Amino acid sequence: MQTAILYNENHKWMIFGRNPAKPEKIIDTNQYLIVAGNQGILLDPGGTELFAPILAAVLRHAPIRQLTHIFASHQDPDVISSLGLWDQVIPDAKLYCSWLWEGSIRHIGLKNIEYMPIRDDGGTIHVGNIDLTLIPAHYLHSPGNFHLYDPVAKILFSGDLGSSLEPADAPFFVDNFDEQTDKMLLFHQRWMPCNRAKQDWIDRVRSLDIEVLAPQHGRVFKGDDVNRFLDWFESLDVGAAMSG
Ligand SMILES: [Fe+2]
Ligand SMILES: [Fe+2]
Repeated sequence: MQTAILYNENHKWMIFGRNPAKPEKIIDTNQYLIVAGNQGILLDPGGTELFAPILAAVLRHAPIRQLTHIFASHQDPDVISSLGLWDQVIPDAKLYCSWLWEGSIRHIGLKNIEYMPIRDDGGTIHVGNIDLTLIPAHYLHSPGNFHLYDPVAKILFSGDLGSSLEPADAPFFVDNFDEQTDKMLLFHQRWMPCNRAKQDWIDRVRSLDIEVLAPQHGRVFKGDDVNRFLDWFESLDVGAAMSG
């Protein structure tokens, strides 16, 4: 499991991924941890098979009592199927996810952690000494879907958006945007269902000051590559638009 620091000033952002023990047919995922003051939040903590290595990696950066919040961008198993295990080790934590998914996600095993339903227009999560903004991203690809924006670090966690399918040893950061689009094309065309949802999201996030766009799979975009991604995605026909 590799780790990189995305931001380390007022508070700290970390990315964990590229698990060398990952079974071949399981999609690789990026997990994120924000530590702010005396609290911490895990973003899309991943699947059950990742629980042990992620827990070990996270504990190198924060004690278990500091893991107070979990954010799930949506309901997919690669995002949150480890929840039943986290439920046992951090029983006092709060889980933030769309209200739409509460009935489904409880099937994973939620006995202790408190489910905090996010209303459709988003909201704020207060963690330690920061406020994180929940950005609606419905139908991209899940019908109840959110991204998480940190206005101090200027980082947008973008869930499946911006994701690319990469080998297990790929670097964490985009180093050649034009080459990156080949690895993103099929994923965005097939998983993102319609141009209208895409355009709603584009219009919403263009108003944010973003220095880092951090997806759940593949590589992280920094600096000018953030706008290059927004331009590329805006011009791409996706989902239903592909079938006429
Ligand atoms: Fe997904
Ligand atoms: Fe995913």
